[in-house]
Amino acid sequence: MRYTFAISMTGWPMATSTNSPSDTCKAVTRKQSRAGQKIPPARDPHRYINDLDPDAINRLIERLESRGKERAFTRLFEKYLSRLHLSENARVLEIGSGTGVITRLLARKTDKSIHVTGIDHSSALVETASQLTLQEKFEERITYNVEDAHALQSGSEFFDAVIVHTVISHVAEPATVLKEAYRVLKPNGTLAVFDGDYASLTYAFDDAEAGRRMDWALAQTVFSNPVVMRHMPQLLAGAGFELTETLADLVSEIGQGSYFRSMAETYAPLIVVAGLASKADTDKWLKAQHEAIDQQRFFASCNYYSFIAHRPG
Ligand SMILES: C[S@@+](CC[C@H](N)C(=O)[O-])C[C@H]1O[C@@H](n2cnc3c(N)ncnc32)[C@H](O)[C@@H]1O
Repeated sequence: MRYTFAISMTGWPMATSTNSPSDTCKAVTRKQSRAGQKIPPARDPHRYINDLDPDAINRLIERLESRGKERAFTRLFEKYLSRLHLSENARVLEIGSGTGVITRLLARKTDKSIHVTGIDHSSALVETASQLTLQEKFEERITYNVEDAHALQSGSEFFDAVIVHTVISHVAEPATVLKEAYRVLKPNGTLAVFDGDYASLTYAFDDAEAGRRMDWALAQTVFSNPVVMRHMPQLLAGAGFELTETLADLVSEIGQGSYFRSMAETYAPLIVVAGLASKADTDKWLKAQHEAIDQQRFFASCNYYSFIAHRPG
């Protein structure tokens, strides 16, 4: 089996355009002070989605929807869903709901009386989520709004549960987002934060050192906060939460690659745009991943964590 690789680098944002000019300054300054010279900031496409052109947004939509069909991914959501203890008529908020993979999954798996609100700062994603929700006839149970996770529009103490699923690694200020989650939760309400520890993201590559560099370049390119899950105990306590439970999971693909293949294909071109590896090195690495899949010797893995916390009563 041979996969054709047809990702073009056009359409991905260059370093000159961001959500806010101050963000650009901060990112470039950080890179300047570290490297001593001006290089483009690494870009997080989900954080800066509102700067992307429609083709690039469509690629993110495809990636989110294909990920939502991966059992390796959905089983981790199902694992923490039961820990939310949702009762009849519960109101649930998903912060950063994307195309609605998690909101729809939640609606499928829970009582019809439960209502879900999804918020996302991308109107294109909210539009897609609304269409897919209509197709699944969940429009009575799921509502979407375009909102920034750092300044939620909801009143205080409104939701019984808040979910932050693969979003905290992308936001500008994780502590502010958690404080907002706390504000909109009712006393005794439950928060679930799920994400990867992307320092553990790894793909096999014959040159192990070069492979390690590529793994970290990928993590830095895709995620604004690649190791934020390590700091979640302090961040949750700082926002006022009490930690109830943590779950640790390994997602790996050995032999065949699907979830990690799509991750590599979608995001590796951005490593080059971010200036973290040359096009030649990135192409060589990606070619090696495709060959490994063809020859059924693929290997990739990443650790994922779920933090379940509650707002004290
Ligand atoms: C990796 S996607 C996860 C989507 C969804 N939770 C899922 O698991 O399928 C990250 C999402 O966070 C959203 N996002 C990032 N920063 C945000 C912010 N400041 N406010 C609202 N949404 C944000 C992005 O637009 C994107 O939809």
